[in-house]
Amino acid sequence: MKTVNKSEIFDEKKTSAIVEELQPTLFDLIALGLIIKQAHWNVVGPNFRAVHLHLDEIWALVQEDVDTVAERISTLAVSPSGQAHEVTDNAQLTHIPLGFLRDAEVIDLMTDRMSTVCHNIRERMAKIEDTDTVTADLLHQVVDGLEKQLWMLRVQGM
Ligand SMILES: [Fe+2]
Repeated sequence: MKTVNKSEIFDEKKTSAIVEELQPTLFDLIALGLIIKQAHWNVVGPNFRAVHLHLDEIWALVQEDVDTVAERISTLAVSPSGQAHEVTDNAQLTHIPLGFLRDAEVIDLMTDRMSTVCHNIRERMAKIEDTDTVTADLLHQVVDGLEKQLWMLRVQGM
């Protein structure tokens, strides 16, 4: 199966340097989307409605980010990987506990997972900033959106 096509954009070395940062980002974002839905379904407590609905907004944003990152990999003529077994093996995110979860705990768990993803993406972004400003800018936008949601989630727990 062919996983790399000829790219008009960069040579092989540059392409792989960029994709090395994008592919783990894709795994993290897919895993984050799954964790968000788990929390959305399992949240209980007085702030159920606010947290439940907010998590769905974040989920929708994350799905857009997943698509943006995957399609940037395709644009660079490399095959993106996003199947469940690959995500399980490679995502750098800890799952959340099984069962129903109190709203305050959900906020703690989700701010932790979202800040891990933002931190990871910031590190990866820094590595490719000099190689490809377009991909770095794309990751900037992903982090910008996630950090904004992180703020709105965090303040609900205060
Ligand atoms: Fe729902």
